[in-house]
Amino acid sequence: MDIIVKKDYEQMSKCAAEYIATLINKKPNCVIGFATGRTPIGTYRELIRMHNEGLDFSNVIAFNLDEYYGLGMDLSKPYALDQSYQRFMYEELFKYINIKDENIHIPDGLTSNPDEFCMAYEETIKEVGGIDLQILGIGGDGHWAFNEPGASLDSRTRVEKLSKETLDDNYEAFYKKAGFSRDEMPHYAITMGIGTILDSRSVLMLANGSKKAKIVADALEGPVTNQVTASAIQLHKGKATVILDEDAASMLGRYKQSTSVS
Ligand code: PGA
Repeated sequence: MDIIVKKDYEQMSKCAAEYIATLINKKPNCVIGFATGRTPIGTYRELIRMHNEGLDFSNVIAFNLDEYYGLGMDLSKPYALDQSYQRFMYEELFKYINIKDENIHIPDGLTSNPDEFCMAYEETIKEVGGIDLQILGIGGDGHWAFNEPGASLDSRTRVEKLSKETLDDNYEAFYKKAGFSRDEMPHYAITMGIGTILDSRSVLMLANGSKKAKIVADALEGPVTNQVTASAIQLHKGKATVILDEDAASMLGRYKQSTSVS
């Protein structure tokens, strides 16, 4: 596992975008797994800037990690009132780059048959040859995607019940600002499983801020446990890279000493 520590959020985002752009330039038809949340927004802004300078997404294939169950993109609503992850990806990245609509795959939160949908999602990933690079954040409860504490480390795409901590975090980060009550938040999501994520040829995990320091240290240096599903990064058999800002890295032990901060 490579751990890169950058001075702040901006430098972390630039480094992550460069990492992703390097793959796209090397393999223009690469398959990228995208993540939502506050963490990757700076990375996506940087990718948009790079696209304006020529980075070509026309052959990139995208698979998103997760979607709230019960939500789908609704362009008739203002962005704030459409909290679907489909809308997030559209507003934060996809509408600004030349990725083809037919190459975008995001779990369908409005599906009437989630079990069938989840199996088909896994099949579609296989049909394109698997994910080259999966981008990931880490939740306050240590989750990867919506694989909440207790999720099996070999889980596949499925419907998962959100933990109280995730509901609290996402309410504060997104829903409250838009004027929703806590009860209006979806309590379930469709999420790729930990097993699905571990099948990616490489993973790129990002985290910033002192609030993430403890859980980052638990995930990277603690025991591999389904109580912190991001600790599964220690089981990844391909290339695992973590880019942190100094605050998020502040509770790491051995890694902090062996990494230079720039
Ligand atoms: P955040 O969420 O980027 O909004 O902190 C991370 C996650 O839940 O994976």
